[in-house]
Amino acid sequence: FLATILISGGTLVGISNAALAVDPAQLRESAKDYFEVIPSMVPAIAGNAVTREKVDLGKKLFFDPRLSASAIISCNTCHNLGMGGDDNLETSIGHGWQKGPRNAPTVYNAVFNEAQFWDGRAEDLKAQAKGPVQAGVEMASTPERVVTVLNSMPEYVAQFNAAFPGQNDPVTFDNMAMAIEAFEATLITPASRFDQFLEGNDTIMTETELAGLELFIDTGCASCHNGVNVGGTGYYPFGVVEQPGAEILPPDDKGRFAVTQTATDDYVFRAGPLRNIALTAPYFHSGKVWNLEQAVAIMSSSQLGTELNDAEVQAITAFLHTLTGETPSVEYPVLPVSSPTTPKPAA
Ligand code: HEM
Ligand code: HEM
Repeated sequence: FLATILISGGTLVGISNAALAVDPAQLRESAKDYFEVIPSMVPAIAGNAVTREKVDLGKKLFFDPRLSASAIISCNTCHNLGMGGDDNLETSIGHGWQKGPRNAPTVYNAVFNEAQFWDGRAEDLKAQAKGPVQAGVEMASTPERVVTVLNSMPEYVAQFNAAFPGQNDPVTFDNMAMAIEAFEATLITPASRFDQFLEGNDTIMTETELAGLELFIDTGCASCHNGVNVGGTGYYPFGVVEQPGAEILPPDDKGRFAVTQTATDDYVFRAGPLRNIALTAPYFHSGKVWNLEQAVAIMSSSQLGTELNDAEVQAITAFLHTLTGETPSVEYPVLPVSSPTTPKPAA
C-alpha cells in the first residue's frame, strides 16, 4: 500500500505492494491498544442483578406498545431488534406522527456505552429508559399512567413480583426501567469478524479490511472511536477541524451544550459506537447521511482535516463492515392481555 524503498546491504530494493501487505500479527498488537473483544456473556450491571425473571419481564416491556399513550409505540418501534436495533429513519417518528430531532442509535451493545444518548445526558440504561416513555415526541405517557396500565394486568403484577422479590409494591416506574435495563444487557452481538481477528484469527479479515483497520488507527479515527464499542466512550465537537455544513449539522441542535450549558460544549456529541454500523444507516445525530463511505469521508475531513482518497475510504468502510456481530435471536413475547381497567389508548 505504501510505496517504500528499503536499503539493504547497500543495494536499493524496491518493495512491491504485495510484499508490503499488512502483517496481521503486528496489526493485532497495535489494535489491542485501542479495542477490546466484545464479551459473549451478558455483562453484570451495577445495582441491578440480571436475573431470568427480570429479563423476561423487561423483554415484554420493551415490546409492549401500551407503555405509550397511544398504545401503538413500543421501544421496538424505534429500536427494531430485527433491523440492527434502530428504525433506519433519518430521525424517529413518535407520538402523533411527530418527527423527533435526532436519529435513533441502536440498542444493541448500548450496555457497553459509557453514557447514553448522542449528548450523553443519561448515565445508564435505567436512567435512559424513563426518558422515551415520557417524551412528548416519543411515547407521550406518564409514570402514573404506566403504573396504572401495568397494574391493570394480573400477569404483569405477578411478573413484577417474581422479578423484584420481597418488595411490597413492586409495580413501579423505577422497576420498569430496571427490568428493561436487564433485558437490554442481553442485547449484545458477539463474534464479529473483527473480534475473531482480535482473538487470533489471521485469515478472517481480507487484505482490504486489514488495510482499512490499519488506516483507521493510523489516520486517527481510533483516538475517538475505541474500546469495546469502537466508540461510545467520549465527547468531541462535531467538526474539530472543519464544521460540516448545516445540511449535516443542523445549527439548532448544539449537542452537549444543552446538558452542561458550557460554551466549549457547543456542537459536542458522543463519538458514535461503531459496532454494527453497516446495519444502522442513516448516519450522524441528524441522520442526514445514508452512505457509510460518505460518513467516513466526512469524519476524516471534519475531525482530522485529512482528505482520504477513494481507495482509503473504501478500505476503512470495508473494515467497518467487519464490526457486524451475531445478532441474538429474540423470540417475540406474548404480552399480557388488557383488562377492563386498562386505560384506553389516548390521543
Ligand atoms: C436513544 C432505549 C423508546 C428513539 C435510546 C438509547 C437507548 C434507548 C438505550 C441510547 C442509545 C445510545 O445512546 O447509544 C429505548 C427504550 C425505549 C425507547 C428502552 C422504550 C422504553 C424509543 C422510542 C423512540 C426512540 C419509542 C422513537 C419515537 C430514540 C432516539 C434516541 C434514543 C431518537 C436518541 C436520542 C438522543 O440522543 O437525544 N433509546 N428507547 N426510543 N431513542 Fe430510544
Ligand atoms: C460519528 C467514523 C474519526 C468523533 C461517526 C460515525 C462514523 C464515524 C461512521 C457515525 C456514527 C453513527 O451515525 O452512528 C469515523 C471514522 C473516522 C472518525 C472512519 C476516521 C476517519 C473521528 C475522530 C473523532 C470522531 C478523530 C473525534 C475527534 C465522532 C463524533 C461523532 C462521530 C463526535 C458523532 C457525530 C454526530 O454528532 O453525529 N464517526 N470517525 N470521529 N465521530 Fe467519528
